[in-house]
Amino acid sequence: MSTVDIQGVTALVTGANRGIGKALVRELIDQGAAKVYATARSVDKLGDLVATASEKIIPLELDVTNEEQIKAAAEAAGDVLIVINNAGIAGYSAIIAAQDTSSARQEMEVNYFGVLHMVRAFAPILKQNKGGVFVNISSIGGLVGIPMVGTYCATKAAVHSLTQSIRGELAGQETLVIGVYPGSIDTDMAVGMDMEKESPYVVAQAILDAVENGIESVYPDKVADAIGYLIHTPLKKLELQWADALPQAGE
Ligand SMILES: NC(=O)c1ccc[n+]([C@@H]2O[C@H](COP(=O)([O-])OP(=O)(O)OC[C@H]3O[C@@H](n4cnc5c(N)ncnc54)[C@H](OP(=O)(O)O)[C@@H]3O)[C@@H](O)[C@H]2O)c1
Repeated sequence: MSTVDIQGVTALVTGANRGIGKALVRELIDQGAAKVYATARSVDKLGDLVATASEKIIPLELDVTNEEQIKAAAEAAGDVLIVINNAGIAGYSAIIAAQDTSSARQEMEVNYFGVLHMVRAFAPILKQNKGGVFVNISSIGGLVGIPMVGTYCATKAAVHSLTQSIRGELAGQETLVIGVYPGSIDTDMAVGMDMEKESPYVVAQAILDAVENGIESVYPDKVADAIGYLIHTPLKKLELQWADALPQAGE
């Protein structure tokens, strides 16, 4: 497994025109990346971002549901060492209560098949470049089902599973595979969520720290950190904590 220094690196980010993707491009440039392919469904939406460092930020048109565009992006970005699969949608639909399954299908198309096609297209490039890094943005909802966004959670659980599987598949070519599990981040996607939210820059910084230090699972904000801790604390340890609370003999 390789770790990668941000200084001087070449990276690619999907869904780079706003939210976490835009923060990732800015943070990569601020931390010394040599080149960032900022990809978006419409390059017109990248104008302001590119203008901040036009010699280093290369705009590329990329709808992650379009396999031809993914192939073209892989041909254009053959020097990339970090590929960040960030693009995503949330239809805010429940599993049973939704009117129909159109949102469930569209979410799966973008959030799961988009990542699947990206890792298939870019794995040979990372191999050729001696390892590199895939970063897949799942969600805390990919680890714990949340009823009001049940169809979205299913797609993020699929991304989590894909991330685990390719970690083994790509171990032989030394590719670091990072799963990111944000909880509540202040972007357009979370506008309807009435809770404390953290800046997308907190997520971007946690991701770049993971790339440099070989951290495979990232819980970047307070909500994610709390849920991640609960998930990963072994139940046996909790049982022992209760035992500590019992009055001891002679007390
Ligand atoms: N915000 C949160 O609280 C939160 C929590 C957990 C996980 N996440 C995940 O974090 C990632 C980034 O989300 P965000 O919060 O930054 O959301 P956002 O502000 O809504 O941005 C989503 C980005 O994805 C792009 N996108 C959507 N469909 C696409 C497609 N077919 N091809 C290429 N790009 C596409 C959007 O482009 P357009 O402008 O063209 O639509 C936009 O750039 C997502 O994977 C999301 O599921 C977010």
